[in-house]
Amino acid sequence: MCGIVGYIGAQDAAPILLEGLGRLEYRGYDSAGVAVVTKSGLKIRKSQGRVADLVAGLPARFKGAPGIGHTRWATHGEPTEENAHPHTDAAGRIAVVHNGIIENADELRAKLMADGVEFRSQTDTEVVPHLIAAAFAAGAPDLEQAVCQALRQVVGAYGIAVLDADHPDRIVVARNGSPVLLGIGEREMFVASDAAALVGYTRQVVYLDDGELATITTGGYRTFTLDDRSTAKSPATIDWDIIGAEIGDHSHFLQKEIAEQPRTIERTLRGRLDERFSTAHLGGLNLSVREAREFRRVKILGCGSACYAGDLGAQLIEDLARMPATSESASEFRYRNPVVEPDTLYIAVSQSGETVDTLAAVQELQRKGGRVIGIVNVVGSTIARQCDGGIYLHAGAEMSVAATKSFTSTVTAFALLALHLGRMRDLSPTNGKRIVDGLKALPAKITEILELDDEIAKIARDLAPHASMLFIGRRRGQPVAREGAQKLKEISYIHAEAYASAELKHGPLALVSPDMPTVAVVPDDDLFDKNTSTLAEIKARRGPVVAVAHRELPVELADRTIVVPKSEDELDPILMSVPLQILAYHAAVALDRDVDKPRNLAKSVTVE
Ligand code: G6P
Repeated sequence: MCGIVGYIGAQDAAPILLEGLGRLEYRGYDSAGVAVVTKSGLKIRKSQGRVADLVAGLPARFKGAPGIGHTRWATHGEPTEENAHPHTDAAGRIAVVHNGIIENADELRAKLMADGVEFRSQTDTEVVPHLIAAAFAAGAPDLEQAVCQALRQVVGAYGIAVLDADHPDRIVVARNGSPVLLGIGEREMFVASDAAALVGYTRQVVYLDDGELATITTGGYRTFTLDDRSTAKSPATIDWDIIGAEIGDHSHFLQKEIAEQPRTIERTLRGRLDERFSTAHLGGLNLSVREAREFRRVKILGCGSACYAGDLGAQLIEDLARMPATSESASEFRYRNPVVEPDTLYIAVSQSGETVDTLAAVQELQRKGGRVIGIVNVVGSTIARQCDGGIYLHAGAEMSVAATKSFTSTVTAFALLALHLGRMRDLSPTNGKRIVDGLKALPAKITEILELDDEIAKIARDLAPHASMLFIGRRRGQPVAREGAQKLKEISYIHAEAYASAELKHGPLALVSPDMPTVAVVPDDDLFDKNTSTLAEIKARRGPVVAVAHRELPVELADRTIVVPKSEDELDPILMSVPLQILAYHAAVALDRDVDKPRNLAKSVTVE
């Protein structure tokens, strides 16, 4: 969703801001803008559409510093140029970029209008520069105090950056519920809502906490609170993953991220397998053996693909640790006044570590005394810092909106956790070794699946003209089917619905016809016969079937079979989800979709 960048230093701000905005494109947005301070005051350019459109419209002499930039994902008001950030006060002296939602914007707007302020946009954000200007008019001595006075009136979530043409030596930023981090350079400073914007500029960052503000100047930074108490912050070093944010030779980030999975799974496993005791080492959990053994149940929370990965995580934990485990959408959980139990281990799953519903669920749990660990990809992200411990995926930057490598790495992290919890309970060393060996073999098996790319592309091209598809699976195959349907619909816009195979008879079988293909997940396990009888029912109604299986199925059961290598039963879902990613990718390409930035979606959903 929305992204913020800011720069102060001796260089011209615009190229740095535009590069940063380009790196935030993956988050999803529909307009963009930049502001810089020049000798003759603020200069602002905004544009509907892509950062490339903004660049195209930028005059050659758009020079100056400091500067701030923004990519906006419309919430209040349409994605027009007027509604794009930065927003200014009436005099054009103060410029503000904002992520989040100001809940009392209507009330503040009415008050400001009563004082004669004219609004130029429909956004909630525009109240902020007007409030800052009003604070100056009321005698605020400096930008910091004016921003504090303004923000004391604001209710809601924000990450903001403020430029003041009359204070060109600084940018003031603030955070409350929407991430802001400072980047430290050599006699220059950066600000961003996401570390990705700072790639190539600095590794030294300071994460602001909620309720905190900062002033950055060329010489450094100062952090403080709304009531002007200084806070002490020490910089952290970002370990830019070797698997970085560059697209390389690939046509799309999604294609690159699918192809990276042998390496990303290896990285999730690295240093965590204990062959001697056939278990997993998970140092970041912050749980003693005694504490870990006291938990009786596990509850997993996440949104979208993270939630589907959680469904597989719950099955892994039940299978290997024999602890009752369930997964639920964090957005539902947070609003149903959940019963929080002391002997339940809560697990928040989030690639970005910024998803607002997942964060709110964590906060609700902690408020009720729940112990929450995180399975998160982005190091230092809000959810990672909010949780009491956790497992980082180390899958590297995931730039495409649709989750792929983070999905398989999350399930791999769950397998490690299930092994760890299992081996301190009743999982035998022999069974533990079976899982350890199975995990070690995953990367090579994914490499084999990637070699099926041409074959799967052909199937995808044949399926692409269909308006709708069913995805089915049983037990572990069901979350694989759900994630497969999710991938297809989000990037190809083909309607896809996932069902537990046995549910087919209870409704969706009525949809089966030659126009409605079914993609079936058919592992070679104890439910194989059940799965094939479902396929026979579909074929009897002339429904086309594509199966993902461990052996070629006869044409009476499936028109096409994508044969994938077998792993341990518990780990098969990791492998079986890969061909479905490839299928969705090629269907989207065949339909000429914007694969990495599907319409209406955002990579990290930081507002409700
Ligand atoms: C968005 C993305 C999904 C993602 C979900 C959760 O909806 O489009 O791909 O699965 O958020 O994101 P998270 O960063 O919390 O895993």
